[in-house]
Amino acid sequence: MSLVNGVEMLWKARSEGYAVGAFDLINLEFLDGVLAGAAARRAPVILSLAEMHLDHADLDLFAPALIKAAERASVPVSVHLDHGERLETVERALAAGFTSVMIDGSALPYEENVRLTREAVRLARAAGAAVEAELGHVAGREFYVEGRDAAGADLEDVPLFYTDPDQAADFVEKTGCDFLAVSIGTVHGLYRGRPRLDIPRRERIRDRVPVPLVLHGGSGLTDEEFRRLIAAGISKINFYTELSHAATRAIKDVIAADPAVTGITRVLSGVRDAVRRIVEEKVAVWGSANRA
Ligand code: 13P
Repeated sequence: MSLVNGVEMLWKARSEGYAVGAFDLINLEFLDGVLAGAAARRAPVILSLAEMHLDHADLDLFAPALIKAAERASVPVSVHLDHGERLETVERALAAGFTSVMIDGSALPYEENVRLTREAVRLARAAGAAVEAELGHVAGREFYVEGRDAAGADLEDVPLFYTDPDQAADFVEKTGCDFLAVSIGTVHGLYRGRPRLDIPRRERIRDRVPVPLVLHGGSGLTDEEFRRLIAAGISKINFYTELSHAATRAIKDVIAADPAVTGITRVLSGVRDAVRRIVEEKVAVWGSANRA
């Protein structure tokens, strides 16, 4: 039985200087691939289900599969709600046995984000689960490229974009959240050009904030960028787009090799291994291999 609470997993990562991967899953092939990759590298891992993917993976149906898979895994696994937007979804995930939930109030005014996060913390405590919150906003790549927004404005001047270190400390104290997602220049999805990572800001946040820090928007970063971010205090890395692209490529390859293929099991046959390969590669870069 390897289902564990993410708090201990991330505090260990923080104190030993590595990051745990939180991979977003949309179906059983992804689940299988992520766990096979983590097991092959002896890495602790976080199985994430994002609220925006619930149309593809019904929470009430998929949750028991995630929990059962975690329980029988040979490495420590926690089961996490990613980007929870509504308290109702948080409650459903907690009722299903998730070990942590994210409540994302990052687009709200500060005091409203505090209020929403405090409420999620109250619900999670009653269920013995942990809460991730977000301050500063990790947005989509279409608007934020190389330190500038779509209109060309410097992101330093875009309200809510970068996390303020002092505000982050105040936020954690007021809300009691267990991990904090912060914005220091990454975006969700792949990058056009290179992101402008504000490492000194990350270090200032780490020095002021007494909980593990989370990086959203892991896809598209180089190994060297990951290492600098982890050295500056990142303990959890959220990762999805590269898995999605690799899975789609695997499907296209099968169809290209046999355009007459009709069997869906054959069409999907490369997805699990495509996901597994990326997971194996990333957990080695992030330092979580051989930590299970
Ligand atoms: P990527 O899709 O950029 O890997 O980001 C995933 C993420 O942050 C999910 O919360």
